[in-house]
Parts: sequence; structure tokens; C-alpha cells
Amino acid sequence: MTTKTFNIFLKDETQMTHFGAQLSQHVSSKLLIYLQGDLGMGKTTLVRGFLQGLGHKGRVKSPTYTLVEPYEMSGKSVYHFDLYRMAHPEELEMIGISEYLSENAICIIEWPEKGVGALPEPDLLIELAVQGQGRSLEMSAITSAGQKILEQFLHD
Ligand SMILES: Nc1ncnc2c1ncn2[C@@H]1O[C@H](COP(=O)(O)OP(=O)(O)OP(=O)(O)O)[C@@H](O)[C@H]1O
Ligand SMILES: [Mg+2]
Repeated sequence: MTTKTFNIFLKDETQMTHFGAQLSQHVSSKLLIYLQGDLGMGKTTLVRGFLQGLGHKGRVKSPTYTLVEPYEMSGKSVYHFDLYRMAHPEELEMIGISEYLSENAICIIEWPEKGVGALPEPDLLIELAVQGQGRSLEMSAITSAGQKILEQFLHD
């Protein structure tokens, strides 16, 4: 499969949130998304927009210490992971990662690099980097499920 990628420049937090919300309109119920990018690149901001796009009204806090934060809205389950503070990939087993991943749920993972060896490949990989005052975003489809979503996203 040829990897499809999509690039966009997001000038501020509002655009990052908007991107997350737009992406949320194309996701299927079972999906794994990796969010890569250095500290403060806007990963949690994107997730906040994504959750709001699905109708979440409350806060979105960074699950830095809990590793995972669950959300449930309009029949969709979303698990937001932040693995930054994880010292060993084996900790993923202790939190029961395979159960989260086998559920009919959308799993979004910040700092997937910390879980190398204990995580499957994602459907979609999103990479964020500084560009001027804003951020560059690259979204790559890794699986055919991811490719389908990327194509629909580009189509609309
Ligand atoms: N497109 C953007 N352009 C400029 N600033 C942005 C953009 N998106 C988000 N930010 C800002 O970047 C800062 C960090 O955002 P956020 O907490 O989402 O980063 P993060 O990648 O989750 O960081 P961490 O790795 O620490 O979890 C916030 O102040 C946010 O407003
Ligand atoms: Mg974060």
C-alpha cells in the first residue's frame, strides 16, 4: 500500500482545534491514531477539538499522570492516552492496553514513542512541528482503514 499523506499549516490554537473537530467527523468507531510531536506542539489541543467535534462539552485534561482518559458521547468511545511519563513500554500491559485497543473505540495516543514494542501500528499517524508562529501538521495513512478516512477527509 502506498502511504498517503496530507500536509497543512495551522497558524494558531483555533485552527488546531478546528482541524481536530473536522477529523472527528470522518472517523469510524474503531481506530488508532498516533499523535507525534515535541512538547507543546498542540497534541492535546488537537484532541480537545476532536472531542468537542464529537459533542463533548466538559473539560479535556491531559492524562499525563493517569496515562489514559476515557470519553463517551453519542455512542462513541474515545480513549485519550498520554504516555510521556511512562518509563517502560511494559507499563502499557499493566493498564490493560490490549483491552482498550480491541474495544470498538477510537484510541488517540500522545507520545506513542514511549510505547514502542508494546503498541501496534496506528491507522493514522499525525506529526506536528513548529513552523513560524504556528504548526505544520502531516497526517499519514498507515493502514487501509486509515487511508479510507484520509480520502474522505480530503474529499469533503
Ligand atoms: N497551531 C498552533 N499554532 C500555535 N500554537 C498552538 C497551535 N496549536 C496549539 N498551540 C499552543 O501550543 C501550546 C501547547 O499545546 P498542547 O498542550 O496542546 O501541546 P502538547 O503537544 O499536547 O504538549 P505535551 O507534549 O506537553 O502534552 C498551547 O499553548 C496551545 O495553545
Ligand atoms: Mg499534551
